[in-house]
Amino acid sequence: MVFLNGKFLPVEDAKVSVLDRGFIFGDGVYEVVPAYSRVPFRLDEHLARLERSLSETAIRNPYARAQWRDFILRVIDAQPFEDQAVYFQVTRGAARRDHAFPKNAEPTVFMMSNPLVNPPQEQVQKGGAAVSAQDNRWLRCDIKSISLIGNCLLRQLSAEAGGAETILFRDARLTEASASNVFIVKRGVIQSPPKGNLILPGITYDVVVELAAANRMPLQFREITEAEVRGADELWVTSSSKEVFPIIELDGKKIGDGRPGPVFLRMYQLYQEFKQKVMRAGLRDSHGEAVSA
Ligand code: PDD
Repeated sequence: MVFLNGKFLPVEDAKVSVLDRGFIFGDGVYEVVPAYSRVPFRLDEHLARLERSLSETAIRNPYARAQWRDFILRVIDAQPFEDQAVYFQVTRGAARRDHAFPKNAEPTVFMMSNPLVNPPQEQVQKGGAAVSAQDNRWLRCDIKSISLIGNCLLRQLSAEAGGAETILFRDARLTEASASNVFIVKRGVIQSPPKGNLILPGITYDVVVELAAANRMPLQFREITEAEVRGADELWVTSSSKEVFPIIELDGKKIGDGRPGPVFLRMYQLYQEFKQKVMRAGLRDSHGEAVSA
């Protein structure tokens, strides 16, 4: 069962106009929210980011926050599996092709939910490989745009090399990865580029930052050079689907000693504990809403 413009229907019956600006221009924004045991994780934060993406792109937000929550919980309930990756997108709607915004188009809202595939335990223990590339995307990477051709081309580079991610550098500075944020650890200090127009403000990034602060793990936001990434003791990527994942090899060269590091192992454990806590607290209240942790 998927959601399209206010209706719940089988995916085969969900049809969108070929003139939809999402199809023609990639003119839309999206979110991916993980749900564990049917409890959406950090839903309000994802909705706040969606609202921001919509307002930055001047796409009308068709629903209030409470309606979004209600529809998302109904999409989750309509699936036969427990752990889910809920995807939703809003486009500027269908209109005669013209780059300038249409006057009267209705935004198109689509939601679906697929089984959540987190990296399996063995892979987390072993770590993954990555390749690097120049970050040649546009300069509004803070908007979660559905125009992902830049990200897809970059991700394909690591996919073809059998890697888990493509780590991106712009002007020899670390930005993020093709579909995740990036952290390094050097001499026990966790470091990540500051938020800004060059990276997506990741919800998982925020969770990692909060967990580090709450557990007195040293953390710095700063510009990180390409040389610092290659010489780091640890390299991690974070996203809603990958959670916190260790990269142990970049462009065929070991990071640190080529194994997931001690700071990673601590953060991974804290992240799993936090998830459990959120799930336990996630009993739905009388409005059917998940109580956030
Ligand atoms: N990707 N940076 C980019 C470019 C991303 O596409 C993502 C997420 C992130 C991490 O954001 P978050 O922690 O909020 O998931 C960073 C999603 C999962 C996707 O496109 O499938």
